Amino acid sequence: MRRRLSDLKSLYRKGEKLVCLTAYDAAQAHWASAAGVEIILVGDSLGMVVQGHHTTLPVTIEQMVYHTQMVQRGNQQAYCVVDFPFMSDARPEWALEAAAKLMKEGGANMLKLEGGQRVVPIVQQLSALGVPVCGHLGLLPQSVEKHGYALQGKEASSALRLLDDAVALQNAGAEMLVLECVPASLANEITMQLSIPVIGIGSGAQTSGQVLVWHDVLGITLGRAPKFVKNFLTEADSIQDALAQYVAAVKSQTFPTDQHILAP
Ligand code: KIV
Repeated sequence: MRRRLSDLKSLYRKGEKLVCLTAYDAAQAHWASAAGVEIILVGDSLGMVVQGHHTTLPVTIEQMVYHTQMVQRGNQQAYCVVDFPFMSDARPEWALEAAAKLMKEGGANMLKLEGGQRVVPIVQQLSALGVPVCGHLGLLPQSVEKHGYALQGKEASSALRLLDDAVALQNAGAEMLVLECVPASLANEITMQLSIPVIGIGSGAQTSGQVLVWHDVLGITLGRAPKFVKNFLTEADSIQDALAQYVAAVKSQTFPTDQHILAP
């Protein structure tokens, strides 16, 4: 049986680390789910790792629906979070239309959108309609043309802004938050301040859970892998074993280690 939001909340309340992995098709979802991954993210990272683009920007809503449908056919037990692609949430009415497609046609359980104060009204609107929402702060891949792929929240002022944004998203009704590439101490502070799960990537070990991209966990990178990822296949006998090792490492807090941290 597929996990529900209430199952994730109860793991979070018990203090168990949540394991999230991206997947983009039925086979990946089947194996991730079989390995015990609790949250599958159909990330718009598919624009880079599947389609070969240099950024996530070209991904369309139709493609997100298509990949979500595939994922949900292969997924047995995980909770499925799906990204709003670039610009699909730029206006509240577009966000509602995109949300309807991702949930009704794709079968998404929760929708993720990037940004802070800008997206607060959209989070409120979706949440009031019964749509579970995941925020995404820190490094925002959809804003890469403006801000690049740099670590975020290094200065006191930007760290404070991120903390304010995180609280604003939670107050608007967000049920979960992805925090990408911020210093570990800031990720810890935000995790402590919030009462929703914070899923980290490149943000240290103190968040409520971790997310990685499927291809990175298996060493299938198109260029140089970022410092915060780990190829679990190097010490595994098979893909299934590597995925199981990723799950076990997040649960036992042996991943990420200091070696994967971008800034303390
Ligand atoms: O698109 C994606 O895969 C993501 C993760 C990197 C968090 O947003």
